[in-house]
Amino acid sequence: MEARTNRQILLVEKPTDRLAPQHFRLTQAPVPAPRDGEVLLRVRYISLDAANRAWMQGATYRAAVESGTVMAGAALAEVIEARADGFAPGDLVFADTGWQDYAALPARQLLKLPKVTPLTHLLSVYGIAGLTAYFGLLHVGRPQVGETVVVSAAAGSVGLLVGQIGKIKGCRVVGIAGGREKCDWLTDALGFDAAVDYKAGNLFQALKAAAPQGIDVYFDNVGGDILEACLAQMNLRGRIACCGAVSQYDRTPAGHGPRGVPGLLVVKRLVMQGFIVTDYFKEREAALADLQSWVAAGKLKVQEDVIDGLENTPRALIGLLAGENRGKRMVRVG
Ligand SMILES: NC(=O)c1ccc[n+]([C@@H]2O[C@H](COP(=O)([O-])OP(=O)(O)OC[C@H]3O[C@@H](n4cnc5c(N)ncnc54)[C@H](OP(=O)(O)O)[C@@H]3O)[C@@H](O)[C@H]2O)c1
Repeated sequence: MEARTNRQILLVEKPTDRLAPQHFRLTQAPVPAPRDGEVLLRVRYISLDAANRAWMQGATYRAAVESGTVMAGAALAEVIEARADGFAPGDLVFADTGWQDYAALPARQLLKLPKVTPLTHLLSVYGIAGLTAYFGLLHVGRPQVGETVVVSAAAGSVGLLVGQIGKIKGCRVVGIAGGREKCDWLTDALGFDAAVDYKAGNLFQALKAAAPQGIDVYFDNVGGDILEACLAQMNLRGRIACCGAVSQYDRTPAGHGPRGVPGLLVVKRLVMQGFIVTDYFKEREAALADLQSWVAAGKLKVQEDVIDGLENTPRALIGLLAGENRGKRMVRVG
C-alpha cells in the first residue's frame, strides 16, 4: 500500500494581538493508526469559525488551544477505517479533527451525518450554523409576529440564517454588517428589511432609522459597542440572545463590556441570555426538519464560501475575522 502522510497545521505561537500567518506552520506526520474503539477519518471540509480565535484566548466551552499542537477545529470527515461498532468506511461524520488530512478519534466523539447534496450544507444550514441560528432565535429570542429582530454579523454564517428565519416568522428584520455592499446584499438578495453598516460611523442613529419601533429581539454575535448601541434601543421586555462576541476575539486583552448592564436590563425588564447550540441538541431532528423544509420551499437561502487547500486554512481564518466572508466559510481539504 502506498505510504500516506498527514499534513498538519500547527499553532506555533499564540497571538498577543491580531492573528497572523506566522502563528501557524504546515508540517507533516505519519497517518495515525486507529486503536480499539477509534475510527480513522479523512478530513473533507474544515469548518472555519470565529470561535477558533477565541479558543486561543483561554478555556471557553472547550479547553484552550495550546501552541505546538495541531490547530483545533471542527470538520466534515469520512471514515476510512473503523475499529469501533456503528461505523463503516464511507460514513460521514462531524468531529473535532483539527486542521489536518487525517485524524484517529474515539467513536464516542463523532456525530454521524446523513449524506446530503451538496455535502457542504452539513457544515452550513444543516450544521452548527443553522442550528445555532434556529435555536438561538426561536428558543432564546422568542420573536413574535410583527416584532423587530436585529442581528449583528448579519452576513456571517449564523447571522444570515437568523435574519431569514426572522422573516419566515413574520418579523421586521434589521441586519448589522461591515460595508455598504454586504448591507445591500442582505436587503436585496436575502430579504432583510434594512441593514446598517457599522463601519460607516454613527451606528446609534443609523440603527434608530432602521428600527424606528425599537428592538424586540437582538441576536448578538459580536458584543462590544454594537451590543451597547442595541441595548439602548431595546423595547420593554425585549430579549437579547447572546450567541458570541466576535468583536472581542482577535485582540488581547478583550475590550470593555457595554455600558447599560444591568441598569437597562432592570428598567426595561430585558432578558439577556447566553446559549450554546448543543444545549438544544435533543431537539435537533425537529429543527433540521424545519430547516430542510424552508430550504426546499426557497424561503431560506444558503450562502457558502468554500476555499480550497489545507495550506490556506490560516489565511481563511484571518480573512474571516476581517469580514472577508459572506455566509459559511470552510476549507475543502480532500
Ligand atoms: N453560541 C453558540 O453555540 C455558537 C455557535 C456557533 C457560532 N457562535 C458564534 O456566533 C457568532 C457568529 O459566528 P458566524 O460563524 O456566523 O460568523 P462568521 O461567519 O464566522 O463571520 C464572522 C463575521 O463577524 C464580523 N466581524 C468581525 N469582526 C467584527 C467586529 N469587530 N465587529 C462586528 N462584526 C465583526 C465579520 O463581518 P463584517 O464584515 O460584518 O464585520 C465576519 O464576517 C460568533 O460570535 C461565534 O462565536 C456561537
